[in-house]
Amino acid sequence: MRQPRALPLAFGLPLCAGLMVALAACLPLKDAVSAPSGADDYADFCAVCHGVSGKGDGAVAADMGLKPTDLTMLAAQNGGTFPKARVMSKIWGYTKTPPSANMPAFAALLEGDMVLVDTGDGIATPTPLRLAQLGDYVEALGVKARK
Ligand code: HEC
Repeated sequence: MRQPRALPLAFGLPLCAGLMVALAACLPLKDAVSAPSGADDYADFCAVCHGVSGKGDGAVAADMGLKPTDLTMLAAQNGGTFPKARVMSKIWGYTKTPPSANMPAFAALLEGDMVLVDTGDGIATPTPLRLAQLGDYVEALGVKARK
């Protein structure tokens, strides 16, 4: 009586494995293409000038005519309130000063999903997710530096 019990198992396992492969293929690809985090984007696009800690001491900062801003002081210099709208505009390039030695604009950070962000005026404004995440990350850099 051993044979009949072994048989279904022999068929059942490959069937199960096959089903799981099929299921995995049906899952949304969202995770595979999800946006980088604010920390990732900061490391990739900002740290070279503003430094890992945000203090304006990145690898190329010393060679720049115009010093990268110390991002950890933004809230303190703004009466204790982090100027999130100003920061996001700056990244976006909206308030870009002549480009030469200055900070570039980052069009890539404006692509992809949108989220609603209230920058303090009580209005939830559709904002690119990566821009919003970077705004939060830069704000957190200042909080970390004060500790
Ligand atoms: C090529 C070097 C360089 C890179 C890369 C760079 N910045 Fe800057 N950034 C500067 C310089 C120089 C200034 C100061 C002059 C100016 O305001 O244009 C500045 C100014 C700023 C300000 C203005 C602060 C204020 O007073 O309002 C913010 C915010 C800022 N950077 C954030 C970022 C973020 C976030 C990134 C990454 C997406 C980034 N920067 C990438 C060089 C850079």
